[in-house]
Amino acid sequence: MGFLSTTESSFGLDISQRDIRLVQLAKHGKKVDIQLYSELHLPVGCLEAGEIKNPKVFLESLKKLMHTKHGRGHLSDEVITVLPEQKTFMKIFDLPKENISVREQIVKILPQHLPFDPESMYFDFQVIKREPTRRTVLVGACAKTIVNSYFEILNQAGLSVVAMEIEASVIDRLLIEYNDEKDPQIIIDFGANRSGLFLYDQGSIKFTVSLPVSGIKTDQLIASTLSLDLEKAEQAKIACGMDPAKANGAICDILNKIVEEVAVSVTQAINFYDNNFPEHQRPAKIVLCGGGANMYNINQTLQNKIGLPTIISDPWKNIKNPNPSYFTPQKSQSFVTAMGLALRGANLEKYL
Ligand SMILES: Nc1ncnc2c1ncn2[C@@H]1O[C@H](COP(=O)(O)OP(=O)(O)OP(=O)(O)O)[C@@H](O)[C@H]1O
Ligand SMILES: [Mg+2]
Repeated sequence: MGFLSTTESSFGLDISQRDIRLVQLAKHGKKVDIQLYSELHLPVGCLEAGEIKNPKVFLESLKKLMHTKHGRGHLSDEVITVLPEQKTFMKIFDLPKENISVREQIVKILPQHLPFDPESMYFDFQVIKREPTRRTVLVGACAKTIVNSYFEILNQAGLSVVAMEIEASVIDRLLIEYNDEKDPQIIIDFGANRSGLFLYDQGSIKFTVSLPVSGIKTDQLIASTLSLDLEKAEQAKIACGMDPAKANGAICDILNKIVEEVAVSVTQAINFYDNNFPEHQRPAKIVLCGGGANMYNINQTLQNKIGLPTIISDPWKNIKNPNPSYFTPQKSQSFVTAMGLALRGANLEKYL
């Protein structure tokens, strides 16, 4: 064992606008168990579109989360966290072999592809395929201001940051790699503030897409259409889902408009993949995660609209649920990201 090597797990910290969640896994041979877990609601306005607007309140909330954990054992002081999806970018590039490093090649081409000023971004990459004349690389980028502010506040909480990751890679680690999935597929994360999809095929994420829907936007549409306050609108959404028999179909009709937008975006993503990736395979299925995946009948509705089998994710396929009364099927969907982060922190050889 190396002098500096550590077998202690780092914990995973999912930072979303409304909630922060932690999970720490313990390694037993090649398997892992959930050792510690917790979730805390953030005060309104503390975080907006991924930016920490009130550092003092965020820090207090983070400390509280770390003190109110469930489970047994010592919480690591090393953390792996996720970068806000709205502020990140991920794309695959085919690079001809040149006499400069891959990093230099990426620096040259990135400005044409980034939706942001490249000077304002950090980027990282992974070589996915090497061939005699070209290499395929997956590039991730995030706004420097976001990375720096997350880093600073986590340090202030006494934590050292082992990694900051792009959410699609985190979800991929749990739902595809750890679940030992091989099929080409689309994974959609329906969150409270944002939703995104990524397409996985032949060993890697091919691209990510932000979707024009979110749980909160859905609540706002229900609230304005039916003259309800936002809390009541969310309750109605959860109680009725896409059931035409509930509330005379009023909620189902509203949700249908939103799910239609999702179906259009997914179909565009499939066409984009068909048209731009020569070795593409047709996705075999669509997998839904995040809280919005719990919406009654959303999977069946998307399946009918898109024509691909659509299922709800199974975060517990290869990890034992430590407390089914805490991790209900509904809550489990909200913990996919925290679990994917913790998997990297568990020091399993394949993720080091
Ligand atoms: N049964 C349900 N039907 C419909 N929506 C639901 C249901 N259960 C939860 N949701 C919605 O899921 C959303 C929360 O999802 P999730 O916990 O994945 O978000 P988050 O990770 O906190 O936010 P984000 O990923 O956007 O930063 C809320 O908008 C909530 O209303
Ligand atoms: Mg989320």
